[in-house]
Amino acid sequence: MSHEELLAGRTAHMESNAIREILKVTAQPGVISLAGGIPAPESFPVDAIARFTSVILQRYGGRAFQYDLTEGFRPLREALVPFLARKGVKTSPDGVLVTSGSQGALDALGKILVSRGDRVAVEAPTYLGALSAFNPYGPEYVELATDEEGVIPESLEERLNEAPVKLIYLVPTFQNPSGRTLSLERRAKIADIIIRHNALVIEDDPYNDLRYRGEALPALHSWAPDNIIYLGTFSKIFAPGVRVGFAVAPATISRWMVLAKQGTDLHTGTFNQALCAEYLQSGEVDRQIPRVVELYRPRFHAMLRALEEHFPPWVHWSNPDGGMFVWAESSLELDLLDIYHRAVSRNVAYVPGTFFYATPGTHLNTMRLNFTMPDEQHIARAVATLAEVLLEAGEGAKIGQGL
Ligand SMILES: Cc1ncc(COP(=O)(O)O)c(C=O)c1O
Repeated sequence: MSHEELLAGRTAHMESNAIREILKVTAQPGVISLAGGIPAPESFPVDAIARFTSVILQRYGGRAFQYDLTEGFRPLREALVPFLARKGVKTSPDGVLVTSGSQGALDALGKILVSRGDRVAVEAPTYLGALSAFNPYGPEYVELATDEEGVIPESLEERLNEAPVKLIYLVPTFQNPSGRTLSLERRAKIADIIIRHNALVIEDDPYNDLRYRGEALPALHSWAPDNIIYLGTFSKIFAPGVRVGFAVAPATISRWMVLAKQGTDLHTGTFNQALCAEYLQSGEVDRQIPRVVELYRPRFHAMLRALEEHFPPWVHWSNPDGGMFVWAESSLELDLLDIYHRAVSRNVAYVPGTFFYATPGTHLNTMRLNFTMPDEQHIARAVATLAEVLLEAGEGAKIGQGL
């Protein structure tokens, strides 16, 4: 019997994650991976987690291991209100929905909002996990042009004018994969556009607290709360394995997200939510975020220094102020998916940028470089080697037209 025949129509849209396949080699011994998209494990506050655990066991006993409301563990929803207010997201405990990572929220949003053929606007490039969450429902992606300051407002307005757009997905701060941030001026413009067009936006904001320079910017949500579903997570500032994220959405959307979540996991793990509540309530969050930032800041500077020192003049890279990634683009027509294998044979890995576009097989001249996993010495060595690989590949390559 072929089990393939049993699969639902939507399953065909869940393409096997090609990125996973090619990144398997990064686990080989000796490979310095600039491909990771994950926090450094040495940043996890293990001692604090041990303390929180005994506090939780004493305070809640078995309740910490019981089924709970789909909407989330009440003490966590309460503790999230002031935390969110610091980012410009005004809400109440009832306005917060706890999710299983922000990925859980993206999954619920795909389920309740996206029908076949719906136009869904995404940045070019965008976060691959959002595409994976929406793909099963067969949307028609509409790509939004971006530059060093994030999404170009005129590009969004044009797309909204040409035909209805069901949903807009944005990562305005330290974007994955580009590291870029939507400027203050553009936030105001984007908010004005989405309000005028009565459009619905997902503001996915996992990297906001990882700022190495410059001033914090208010969430887009603060300009247009009725048009925005704001998503946050404990993955980058606490530990991704607890799988706790949160959403603040307009009431109708939130109600449907709860129903979708009931069918997925009933609720996010109670004990893990209690850990996150304790993390916020105890004030540990205000000690931990600076620790994570201080761990990553030298790695961030090591990456920028090494790129400056070694990369060929025909490669341009983004200039982020925070987050986990730098984005690089070759103005020579190089296939960085193909060159990836040469880099791996020299013990360096990155993610070919083509995976981050809604239109497959495009933008082969791009790559994403992570600077939070390897330490400064490894970053310097990896970038120097990668530069050698690029220079060899670039020899004889023609300068791309108009690049
Ligand atoms: C932009 C973006 N959104 C969402 C996620 C998912 O994070 P989590 O489900 O761990 O909260 C990630 C993870 O890397 C991400 O980069």
